[in-house]
Amino acid sequence: MSDILKRMKPAFAKLDGGLFSTAEKADVGDVASRMEEMGVAMMSWADPFKPDPSTPEPVLEAAVNAIKEGTSSHYIMPIGSPELKKLIAERIEKKSGLKLDPERNLIINPGSDNGLLFAIFPWICPGDEVLIHDPSYPNNFQDVEILGGVPVAVPTYEEDGWHIRIEEYKKRVTDKTKMIILTNPNNPTGACYTRKELEELAELCIENDLICVVDQAFEDTVFEGIEMVNMAQIPGMWERTVTVCSVSKGMGLSGFRVGWTYADDIIMDKMHASAVSIQGAASTMAQKAVIPAFKDDSFIQEYVMKYENRRKYGYELFNSIPGVSVLLPDAGFYFWLNVKELGDSSEIVNYLIKEALVNCNDGKFYGAQGSGYLRVIFAVFEKDEDCYAACDRMAEAFRKRAEERGLLV
Ligand SMILES: Cc1ncc(COP(=O)(O)O)c(C=O)c1O
Repeated sequence: MSDILKRMKPAFAKLDGGLFSTAEKADVGDVASRMEEMGVAMMSWADPFKPDPSTPEPVLEAAVNAIKEGTSSHYIMPIGSPELKKLIAERIEKKSGLKLDPERNLIINPGSDNGLLFAIFPWICPGDEVLIHDPSYPNNFQDVEILGGVPVAVPTYEEDGWHIRIEEYKKRVTDKTKMIILTNPNNPTGACYTRKELEELAELCIENDLICVVDQAFEDTVFEGIEMVNMAQIPGMWERTVTVCSVSKGMGLSGFRVGWTYADDIIMDKMHASAVSIQGAASTMAQKAVIPAFKDDSFIQEYVMKYENRRKYGYELFNSIPGVSVLLPDAGFYFWLNVKELGDSSEIVNYLIKEALVNCNDGKFYGAQGSGYLRVIFAVFEKDEDCYAACDRMAEAFRKRAEERGLLV
């Protein structure tokens, strides 16, 4: 470690940006662009239809108009566009029945990664412990750590469909526990937590005076028969829950960098007060561009239907290979493949790049419970055939490896 890094917070000093080492993660440094140049299918980016053009026409038009009208070069208020917030509040009420005051309970963020850090920021003092389900989105752990808190992983298990065992939470609560972070639906497992699970967690939060930060980035991509429940609606939770959402996943508009956070006005008052210093503001142009997506969001259902076909295709394909297994995800657009019998998951990620020209994510990045798993995004490419072709190449490579390991009969 260079001397200057000794002056840095240890949680930052240990981060790996890929400039001085080869980071294996596709979302760090220029790893992704180098792989794309090699013709690798990036099934590691949770970005619908990437790399193909996929902006819905009304959004495209609004984006062009927002530039042409000439005023988008100006700042917008750091708390976000009133018109957009009104539409978001109406949509939340329509979807969940939760009534928000758009001016008092909402803030627009430049994407939900920023929103998540901002949601955690006000609460974490050095040494505060945060319960985080494992596996889950890596930023849950990293955000807590860089703010000086202590992430406490709470294991979930494949045999439970990656759902929550409340006892695992209860036994980890200490007098330092401040918060629970939930990614619901979960990325990478695709589990969408049931009302009962949320009620049990809510009881724990209320009994122990805990804050609950819920990342609902994938709330729009929930398959038929699965209920998406907002923690903020569970009795007693509104006043202690901060919910983070985004246009990136369900709407497939990640490049616009627009997210939103909602909470009780006592909490939101502090977020409004600090917005200018913590997040600046989301792009003026982008906030105007996404407005049509809130006025008519019927395209989301078309996306979910497309994913439904891809979900079934991959489920049957991968489960037909000895040494590979996958559960049908409740939500999201990714498979969480168990490849333990084929070897170490990091090794298999590298093997698939060479053998199948496919990049997916090593499960180890999602927590200790992720070792031996791969996250594979099946929302990639606009055309289903391109996605299926990449899945088929993976399947062939898996079969070859299974054969080498004597797993084929
Ligand atoms: C669970 C989850 N939350 C948040 C994000 C960040 O999304 P964005 O910043 O584009 O809104 C991602 C992106 O992959 C995610 O998977």
